[in-house]
Amino acid sequence: MDRYFELIDKLKKERTLSAAEWAALIKNRSPKLSEYLFSLAREEQERYYGKDIFLRGLIEFSNYCRNDCLYCGIRRSNKKARRYRLDEDTILSCCREGYGLGFRTFVLQSGEDASFTEDRLANLVRKIRKNFPDCAITLSVGEWKKESYQAFFDAGANRYLLRHETRNDEHYAMLHPPSLRAENRRQCLWNLKEIGYQVGTGFMVGAPYQTPEFLAEDMLFLKELNPQMVGIGPFIPHRDTPFKEQPAGTLSLTLFLLGCIRLMLPKVLLPATTALGTIHPEGRELGILAGANVVMPNLSPKNVRGDYLLYDNKICTGEESAQCRESLERKINAIGYRTVTARGDSLNL
Ligand code: 5AD
Repeated sequence: MDRYFELIDKLKKERTLSAAEWAALIKNRSPKLSEYLFSLAREEQERYYGKDIFLRGLIEFSNYCRNDCLYCGIRRSNKKARRYRLDEDTILSCCREGYGLGFRTFVLQSGEDASFTEDRLANLVRKIRKNFPDCAITLSVGEWKKESYQAFFDAGANRYLLRHETRNDEHYAMLHPPSLRAENRRQCLWNLKEIGYQVGTGFMVGAPYQTPEFLAEDMLFLKELNPQMVGIGPFIPHRDTPFKEQPAGTLSLTLFLLGCIRLMLPKVLLPATTALGTIHPEGRELGILAGANVVMPNLSPKNVRGDYLLYDNKICTGEESAQCRESLERKINAIGYRTVTARGDSLNL
């Protein structure tokens, strides 16, 4: 019992653990241990970020996707998904609405939609950059060659989100079709870093076939990459995917890993994700109390909200952007934190 409390102290002091220690800690977590972890995680979070929670406005601009990831509701093979893509003017008006609501970071996310070519995306970024010079632009548009990432960066993008999904290559192959390679995805992350993006990576908690040993590899990869942001959330099955019968990831393991990541990378920007809010009504608040410091309310137009469904029962699909923001802000204030509209660049630069 004490041994695991000591491991948490060691993690705080040395900011890392061995693979064997990670796996042991994850296997032997308990409510008492979690409580201890969260109290230290909150201390670290407060030391660097106070009680500030950063807001990012998420614009899900296309759910067309050439990929066929087994867990994902917008995979190419899902013929039931209602596909949409937003045109440039609609995306810009989402940004305008978001700006009015106080957002100073726009996260542009989509499936890997071939109709958004490198030129089209770069032009879109350029327009947003020109119209909103004081905002950060975050892209989350999948795998591209380095030259394309460079083109988006030169057009004015600052940050890039690309989850590595799992560090273990065999595990990666169980979650993805053979056309997608774990190594390629990691290379994308290194390329993004080299170009100068603030990079976010991450994985699903409780993904099918995940083990504590695989999670240990994920933690070591996070340490090695040292990203500015880490996005983790529970896996949630989607009814029209091959993983429809697989169990969802749990709240307790997700919170535990959030706390661990806060201790390992104390300055990291760590979202309490929509998936976490989906598996539990207070998921995002509990995430913040475990060490998370970012929330990403949806800025997509209301008429397409319900179509960007990576998993079942996604929250906030019926809300207006303003409602979404207000309800979240109230919940965050209620637990003693405040939302801030600053750009919120990582301290980990
Ligand atoms: N449950 C939870 N998260 C999912 N993602 C994709 N499908 C699911 C699902 N069924 C995550 C992946 C991807 C991110 C955009 O969403 O980790 O990188």
